Amino acid sequence: MILPIYTLGQPVLRHIAEDITPDYPDLEQFVADMEETLERSEGIGLAAPQVGRSIRVVIINLEPLADDMPEYAGFHHTFYNPHIEEYDDSETETLDEGCLSLPGLHERVKRPTRIRATWMDEQWQPHDEWVDGYLARVMQHEFDHLDGKVYTDRIIGLRKQMLKSKLNDLIKGRFTCNYKVKVKR
Ligand code: NI
Repeated sequence: MILPIYTLGQPVLRHIAEDITPDYPDLEQFVADMEETLERSEGIGLAAPQVGRSIRVVIINLEPLADDMPEYAGFHHTFYNPHIEEYDDSETETLDEGCLSLPGLHERVKRPTRIRATWMDEQWQPHDEWVDGYLARVMQHEFDHLDGKVYTDRIIGLRKQMLKSKLNDLIKGRFTCNYKVKVKR
C-alpha cells in the first residue's frame, strides 16, 4: 500500500524516533509499504517518520545511481535502529540535497564525508561501521529524520534567511508534487 508522505510542518518529522524490536507489530508489512511508497515517489531514501511513524526504520535504495556510481549497484537495504555514533570532521563536502518531505526544494548542504554508524540489518544482525562516499551522505540525511531533523536545518546564515519564505510555503501546503502527501493545513 502506498503511504502518504508527511511534509514539513507535520510534528512527527520533529520527534526523536524510537528503537524497535523484531516483533514490532506488522513490521514486514510496514516495510513493504515503505518500499512501495519510495518506489512510487522515485526517491533514494525514506525514513519511517516521513510516513508518520516515529520509529527507527530507514530504507536506502542507491540502485538508481549505479550508472554513475557502480559501487552502489544492487545497493537496496533496510536499516533498523540506526544511530550515527561519530562524525569525522576532518573533511566536509557540499552537495545538493532534496527530500520527499520538502517537495520541489533542492539546496546545497555541507556535511562530513565520513561517519561511524550502528544499525541492525534485514536479518537483525548488528553493524558498527565507518561509512564514506555518497552512502555516508544519504545515511546522514535519512538518519537525521529519526532525530527530528530535516536537511534544511543544516543550512545556516544568509542562505537560511533566503530559504525562509520557501520553507514557509511548504509548511502552509503551498506546493505541488506528483506523489501522495499529508500536509498540515
Ligand atoms: Ni529526507
